[in-house]
Amino acid sequence: MKKLLLTTLCFSIGISGCTGKDSGHCKELTLRETIGKYFLIGTTLNNRQITGTDKESCAIAANQFNSISPEGCMKIKAIHPEEGRYDFAVADGFVDFGEKHQQAVIGHTLVWHAALPDWFCTDKEGKDVSPEVLKQRMREHIYTVVGRYKGRIKGWDVVNEAFADDGTYRNSPFYRILGEEFIPLAFQYAHEADPDCELYYNDFNLHLTPKREAIIRLVKELQRRNLRIDAVGMQGHLWKGSPTIEGVECAIVDLAKADVKVMVTELDLTALPAPKKDLGGEAWADFEYDASIDPYRDGLPDDVEQQWTEHMLSFFKLFLKHKDVITRVTLWGVSDGDSWRNGWPVRGRVDYPLLFDRSHQPKPVVERIIKETENTPNDK
Ligand code: XIL
Repeated sequence: MKKLLLTTLCFSIGISGCTGKDSGHCKELTLRETIGKYFLIGTTLNNRQITGTDKESCAIAANQFNSISPEGCMKIKAIHPEEGRYDFAVADGFVDFGEKHQQAVIGHTLVWHAALPDWFCTDKEGKDVSPEVLKQRMREHIYTVVGRYKGRIKGWDVVNEAFADDGTYRNSPFYRILGEEFIPLAFQYAHEADPDCELYYNDFNLHLTPKREAIIRLVKELQRRNLRIDAVGMQGHLWKGSPTIEGVECAIVDLAKADVKVMVTELDLTALPAPKKDLGGEAWADFEYDASIDPYRDGLPDDVEQQWTEHMLSFFKLFLKHKDVITRVTLWGVSDGDSWRNGWPVRGRVDYPLLFDRSHQPKPVVERIIKETENTPNDK
């Protein structure tokens, strides 16, 4: 308990010496007061953090980040598990957390083919519902959820992962039933429910040209119809060799030309080998466990950690370079132990993808990011 209090106190004033042994020297800066000046710096909260069970992560989330995203509690399956039954308990706690800590609260996500309960797109016989029924369900869902948090959420991921890597529409139930129209409809309903809220389209693998071009076509179509779209979110579930810095930069530059802001919405960088190339963020990929692709169960060797640090830092340098168009960078989890990458795309591995380690200590990259930020001219 004493250590926890010290850690909490240290995180509220800085990153240095925050082991609980050295509490007198915690006077360095935090991410939120440094890089957070240029763009929002966010983290996700999982249910254990929102309900306060994981106090150490809560302290980091509150003190180091000025934005929060919900890892699971606002997905349709969690918040609207059955027709006519909503469960807002955790989502309410999530929004309260952000307000308590003066954070920009992000909603994730309104329309997604995954974490989608069966009832949403099917009838009692399990067949696809008609376009009219699906439109009505989408409208009701979006009005209810966005409406509940009206004025309290800075922006919503309205549609998540609607495209395949080749730029065609993903064959989701939404697309199957409503065709391309499901996206403009979702944006329209979200805007009607909270006209002041920012609205985002979110996806992965934007370094792949056909996919990026399809997303830019979508942005232009929404703009042509005068539908609100503020930003495109690039998820950012990174691998050792993919995407490259150049690939991500190309996506940032191309999106900026389409007159939308850019967000890095789900950043994590695996330290582990990939079972397959170019997995992007396909959430339900599930490869068989093999010890040869889980080499660091007892900790990261120094050289691997150093390479990881440089790699992560190089992405932050890129984000700082494009701070005129990037409005938010969100880490997909607080500390390594929380990360979904321990279970994706292979279950049961030990990964090191985030900025804080399993003991809730800042990794060396945190200080490097802060230094890099302090050396960045404030010309925003
Ligand atoms: C992930 C969560 O982190 C996991 O806990 C859950 O089991 C599956 O979903 N793209 C997204 C996120 O938009 O919502 C996903 O989150 C990761 C991929």
